[in-house]
Amino acid sequence: MRATRTSLAAGLAALTLLAVSACGGDDGGEAGGGGGGGSAEVEVFTWWAEGSEKEGLDALVEVFDTQNADFEFVNGAVAGGAGSDAKNVLASRLQTNDPPATFQAHAGAELTDYIEAGQIEGLSTMFEEKGWNELFPEGLLERLQQDGEIYSVPSNIHRANVVWANSSVLQEAGLDPKATYASLDEWIAALEKVEAAGKIPLSIATDWTQVHLLETVLLADLGAEAYNGLWDGTTDWAGAEVTAALEDYATLLEMTNTDRQSLDWQDATQLVIDGEAAFNVMGDWAEAAFATAGKTFDTDYVAFPVPGTDGVFDFLADSFTMPVGSPNPEGTEAWLDTVASAEGQEAFNKAKGSIPANIEADTAEFGPYQQTAIESWTNDEIVSSLAHGAAASVSWLTDVTAAVAKFGSNNDVAELQESLVAAAETHAAS
Ligand code: GAL
Repeated sequence: MRATRTSLAAGLAALTLLAVSACGGDDGGEAGGGGGGGSAEVEVFTWWAEGSEKEGLDALVEVFDTQNADFEFVNGAVAGGAGSDAKNVLASRLQTNDPPATFQAHAGAELTDYIEAGQIEGLSTMFEEKGWNELFPEGLLERLQQDGEIYSVPSNIHRANVVWANSSVLQEAGLDPKATYASLDEWIAALEKVEAAGKIPLSIATDWTQVHLLETVLLADLGAEAYNGLWDGTTDWAGAEVTAALEDYATLLEMTNTDRQSLDWQDATQLVIDGEAAFNVMGDWAEAAFATAGKTFDTDYVAFPVPGTDGVFDFLADSFTMPVGSPNPEGTEAWLDTVASAEGQEAFNKAKGSIPANIEADTAEFGPYQQTAIESWTNDEIVSSLAHGAAASVSWLTDVTAAVAKFGSNNDVAELQESLVAAAETHAAS
């Protein structure tokens, strides 16, 4: 083992020398250099490829351009909500030593995957030198590290357990748009009214959005403590509480649009925006979609915590990495500087629907929905999202997603539960 490490280190040193001499021959004076012969390009890999997500990215890029005249942003985005396609593309690029200058990764368990695979650099020194340890909340910093080393720079905080609803559709179904529902049962009764009125009660899209719905149902029925226990082994996936939650999930899924497999989250949220569906459960990137469509919060649409999860903030954070072998480390650092900056976080999060991770960012101009998220983030209990990398590793999430996808075609609660039990046995930290 030691011999392998030593020869690996020697190999890396040789590679570094090669890279340095390659750059040395280039007198273009560009920062960063890299294999591209002095390129100042900074390829940023995300899945914010279109619509309101791209608008969020564009807002961040605008700040980057202002702060960094010497570097050129290159958009490496791969479409597909929640990174459903991007993560596969990224995995093969990392395997073939073709990393972008930086890539999007979720704080929490997902980050651990890249750390353990040796694919991202530790950033603790950078955090210390730049004073970033004081910029981000302690709990968030903890989720960005392993063995005391920090590995990425958070760009935002998103809330996953949110219901979005079209006020007119609710009124047409005889429901009060300002109503909130204390439990999933109460909410299901409201969904039935929408069904009777001939509209889609609950819009949903492809597999990952179903996992997203499932996680919020588990949170609603189990409560925060037992939900947390699903990830640390203290809650039994085979238990009756989980069975009851899966039955609620089955009931909800029956009340969704039948074309769900051909849609992504933007399409499902759009069904609510357009008044074809009453409700959608989605993270608060949906806020950006309503805003982009010119809709007014609390008038055209309402948003509230998934019934049964009031007082809990189901959390995720996007963050940016320094890949091992970045083609342009100085360019990566410049991007990370912008991501961390109050200015970058204000512009990005205002457009993205999320809230800043940087505690010095000014949120006075943020919209009314985002003010509710700030309030909840500050006061509520925080739990980790499954569908967005905070709670479980990529491989665990992949197995859950396969089980959920299968359930979508066979509606077999017992089989779903068995598969979830098996996934936990395979992947849960011992
Ligand atoms: C999440 C990501 C969000 C948003 C969403 C939908 O995983 O953290 O920023 O992009 O996917 O694509």
